[in-house]
Amino acid sequence: MHVPVLLLETIALLDPKQGEFFIDGTLGGGGHSKIILDKIGKTGKLLVVDLDKKATDQFKEETAAENVIIANDNFAKLPEILKKHKLRRADGLILDLGFSSDQIELSGRGFSFLRDEPLLMTYSDENEPLYQLLTRMKQEEIEAVIRDYGDERYAGRIAREIREKIRRREIIRSSKELADLIKRAVPANYEHGRIHPATRTFQAFRIYANKEVENLESVLANIGKIVTKGGRVAVISFHSLEDRIVKNYFRNYAKEQKVEILTDKPVTASIAEVSQNPRSRSAKLRAVKILKS
Ligand SMILES: C[S@@+](CC[C@H](N)C(=O)[O-])C[C@H]1O[C@@H](n2cnc3c(N)ncnc32)[C@H](O)[C@@H]1O
Repeated sequence: MHVPVLLLETIALLDPKQGEFFIDGTLGGGGHSKIILDKIGKTGKLLVVDLDKKATDQFKEETAAENVIIANDNFAKLPEILKKHKLRRADGLILDLGFSSDQIELSGRGFSFLRDEPLLMTYSDENEPLYQLLTRMKQEEIEAVIRDYGDERYAGRIAREIREKIRRREIIRSSKELADLIKRAVPANYEHGRIHPATRTFQAFRIYANKEVENLESVLANIGKIVTKGGRVAVISFHSLEDRIVKNYFRNYAKEQKVEILTDKPVTASIAEVSQNPRSRSAKLRAVKILKS
């Protein structure tokens, strides 16, 4: 079961009140949504969005409330989703980026380098699977993705191995095949064994295959169409690149006096939370209040 990160901190910043309309753009296991729903009460409304149909179907089963609207869709399309459901701009929006533990453990879509699954790496069939994408990418493109989205110093070596395989017309069909290839490409004492050699490359390919950077940029660029004046926005990211994007958007909006920044520094997990949920170690939470939209 996915354990929500920075739950209390996020709810404190979003401050959902009775009767308000909230959006959870990354439903996942619904950890944040359930508390928001509790706080806004029966007179409030909650729109939940997730690309992963398993996540939205499960929430439908668990939470058959009349005041919940469930959309199996991309949060980058929130302005259109609001129109489609004839909803006004929200009093609050949460984005808890990336993937959930359920997706690593149960999706069967190749997110885990410890499993032997088809190398899809996508949250839904909306995006092209990674094994197919790799057949069309140039070596330099593969290297740039691994380096920029994974901060992987052996990006060049890994990209070369992948391209060699594709050149021999051997498609990398499974997560295990990719993990084994990466292991062969990097030195045996990779990071002194602290992390699995495939950790960073898998993260990079997941971000790339799901267009996570583009989706984040799009939702932040449209925030005024999604959240109303006085509304609160909270974003939890797990990667320095994403956190930088969030920080820059919020700073630029603050300069234009469109938002008030509620977190001078990003909020991070307490030692107690990290010890219970290691996934929270890299989480960074930033929040703003909309002043003009
Ligand atoms: C970290 S999990 C959210 C966990 C959730 N807050 C909880 O506590 O259970 C991120 C979720 O966002 C979804 N997701 C990622 N990118 C998305 C996008 N562009 N649009 C909609 N959902 C997305 C993933 O499928 C995943 O279920």
